[in-house]
Amino acid sequence: MDKISRIKDHFEDEAKEFDEIILKLIPYYAQMIEALVLSIPFGEKEKFRVIDLGCGTGTISCSIKKKYPNAEITCLDIAENMISISQAKLKEFENINYIINDFYNFNFDKHYDIVISSLALHHLMSDEDKKLFYKKIYNSLTDRGVFYNADVVLASSEYIQKIYMNKWKEYMLKNVSNEEVENKWLPRYYEEDTPTKLINHIKWMEEIGYKNIDVIWKYYNFTVYGGYK
Ligand SMILES: C[S@@+](CC[C@H](N)C(=O)[O-])C[C@H]1O[C@@H](n2cnc3c(N)ncnc32)[C@H](O)[C@@H]1O
Repeated sequence: MDKISRIKDHFEDEAKEFDEIILKLIPYYAQMIEALVLSIPFGEKEKFRVIDLGCGTGTISCSIKKKYPNAEITCLDIAENMISISQAKLKEFENINYIINDFYNFNFDKHYDIVISSLALHHLMSDEDKKLFYKKIYNSLTDRGVFYNADVVLASSEYIQKIYMNKWKEYMLKNVSNEEVENKWLPRYYEEDTPTKLINHIKWMEEIGYKNIDVIWKYYNFTVYGGYK
């Protein structure tokens, strides 16, 4: 089975438990999402168009709708079961569209004021894929558009990478057993995830032409960064 199909299957299987699992595995997930949503530079009553890439169970879109009721949101994910849970979570809100597709085949259908993503773009399999996708995102943004991403990254040295992994394990061990961390979650991370250095993300964004690039939040290997068109 190819890597994308494996990733899709994993999220199809995990969809129902996802909201519980993510809090156990990702340090300060709620704080990270708060930083992501706080980065949106628009007024609360304003109308703007958002795409949530790898929306999962719709948590980020839900936070956006609660704060910005007039936002029109497109939720995109490769996993149908994740989209179904998003639809249930977001059923009280209007102006939400759903697309089942993967980042490689998706061509932006319209221009967006906000391109947002959380814990998903590290599934793009190479540095080249990530840079090309950042360019595609840039081209899809309106003139006032912004792109913000919350994600896992690599350190810039082996020494710091060890610290990142130790701090991540320390967090997971508060919630799950050592056996589960070592035999389930870390092997899955090494098999399915392809993070890269934060400094690469920043460099590519600069090269593409993004402005006001910034790192808004960081806890070791988890971070929120982005910029303006
Ligand atoms: C770790 S979850 C994060 C979900 C949500 N954004 C959150 O932070 O709670 C990653 C999501 O990205 C989706 N995903 C992974 N690879 C993808 C791809 N190539 N195209 C589209 N979605 C993808 C998965 O199906 C999954 O729902």
